[in-house]
Amino acid sequence: MKIVIVGGTGTIGKAVAKELGQRHRIIVATSHGEHKVDMTSVQSIEKMYQSISDIDAIIITAGKISFKPLAVITPEDYQIGFDNKLMGQVNMVLIGQRYLKENGSFTLTSGRLSDDPVRSGSNGSVVNAAINSFVKAAAIELPKGMRINAVSPTIIEESKHHYEAFFRGFEPVPAARVALAYSKSVEGAQTGRVYPVG
Ligand SMILES: NC(=O)c1ccc[n+]([C@@H]2O[C@H](COP(=O)([O-])OP(=O)(O)OC[C@H]3O[C@@H](n4cnc5c(N)ncnc54)[C@H](OP(=O)(O)O)[C@@H]3O)[C@@H](O)[C@H]2O)c1
Repeated sequence: MKIVIVGGTGTIGKAVAKELGQRHRIIVATSHGEHKVDMTSVQSIEKMYQSISDIDAIIITAGKISFKPLAVITPEDYQIGFDNKLMGQVNMVLIGQRYLKENGSFTLTSGRLSDDPVRSGSNGSVVNAAINSFVKAAAIELPKGMRINAVSPTIIEESKHHYEAFFRGFEPVPAARVALAYSKSVEGAQTGRVYPVG
């Protein structure tokens, strides 16, 4: 398969590229580098799909959220999660459905905050829940046998030093274990699923 990983240089994306790269051709797309895409721009997404032909699977392991206490988070802060992590991934699918090969697949990334909230995490909770709902809804309408799933990881071992103060009592999972859920989504047959990891 030809698999494009948007965010494939990140903590999760690198592990996904390593797992699936053993069996498939991987193209890494980020806002820097050879295959450029800024998933916050519909023009940039369209350009990426026009420049890479015959894609079998799109994986998105990118997307920013705001991490601030409810008492101080602003509407502008909230918009970051909506414009970047939510609509970035949704637009990759809305535009991508016209380009992906028959029986192709989309795999999005949400996160466990959707149903396991922490202080300062409300933007992430809302955005992740919306991504999970989008996947379930899009699965029943995508054309040409296309499939769509989301991976919902808990805090990743490799990035816990950034966030562990917010996630006391959470058991981090290695990125390599999270990568298996992306393999299940791409190489399996299921659609409309959310795979919680950790
Ligand atoms: N790490 C965790 O503990 C954890 C846990 C649960 C969920 N998640 C979710 O998983 C996703 C990935 O997390 P991560 O920790 O692996 O992130 P990361 O290490 O910061 O990597 C982010 C990746 O996305 C790319 N990127 C950033 N902005 C982009 C844009 N506008 N368009 C296209 N690519 C862009 C980055 O490359 P460039 O900067 O070169 O573009 C990089 O490859 C996030 O949505 C995060 O919320 C992470």
